Amino acid sequence: MSARILDGNETARRLRAQMAQEVAQLAARGVTPGLGFVLVGENPASQAYIRMKKKACAEVGILSHNYELPAGTTQAGLLQLIAQLNADPAMDGYIVQLPLPKHIDETTIIAAIDPRKDVDCFHPVNVGKLCIGDTDGFFPCTPYGVVVLLQENGIDVAGAHVVIMGRSNIVGKPLANLLVQKRAGANATVTLCHTGTRDLAQYTRQADIVVAAIGRPNTLTAAMVRPGAVVVDVGINRVDDPGAKAGYRLVGDVDFAGVSAVAGAITPVPGGIGPMTIAMLLRNAIRAARCRGAA
Ligand code: GUN
Repeated sequence: MSARILDGNETARRLRAQMAQEVAQLAARGVTPGLGFVLVGENPASQAYIRMKKKACAEVGILSHNYELPAGTTQAGLLQLIAQLNADPAMDGYIVQLPLPKHIDETTIIAAIDPRKDVDCFHPVNVGKLCIGDTDGFFPCTPYGVVVLLQENGIDVAGAHVVIMGRSNIVGKPLANLLVQKRAGANATVTLCHTGTRDLAQYTRQADIVVAAIGRPNTLTAAMVRPGAVVVDVGINRVDDPGAKAGYRLVGDVDFAGVSAVAGAITPVPGGIGPMTIAMLLRNAIRAARCRGAA
């Protein structure tokens, strides 16, 4: 058996085309969504992510604004920029790309973002809204991308047992919160596994849907997957490859060759959850701009 490929590139392209129409309608009413990108330092992976996000903004007509600060920027300096972005009416939303340099406290920075502009859904107010099922806030981009990719490809999570590997604040925990809500597109039974889980495979083998979000290549293997299960690979890992143009290639957390022989459906890396994450960032920016338009 060979698993069906859940093509994130194709799904995200379709969603971007729909969003381009929504942005054109908003622009006709005098509201063009504006999205800011804050990067401190020169982390090459972060630079690459921001380039991809800005390209997607341009494609749908969202104005993107770059704020590139030197690695030595102080926490006070970054907080000053955040205050400026919070006060800027043309800035519907912005993201502070993580990770930040070690001398800057991420929690303090995230808490300073105006929750209404927090299109990453990292601010405690938005995380709290997510937990209590208040849909008035934003949904976090990667978990939202997972849910929408499944939905758009006809995979119903309602009543399904979803086993998530990884308890990060960006993926594992918010995805669990999103999936357990009692509403359409959710209503799943969720097991959240992590480094403290004893006998991980015992859980993953019971899953209708396995989500790997650990940050380590080849962690989910064929023996850990029930035949026919859906496998979502959130990992993006750089592995050295002297044969590749960049000297490395991107792989997920899943042993793709082995697992695709047993799974019913699987997301590739790259071209799975990555483009969906970006599409959901655009969706959040449009949502924020709509609020400005309605104000
Ligand atoms: N670093 C890795 N993923 C993300 C993300 O989704 N948003 C931000 N701001 N930083 C990240």
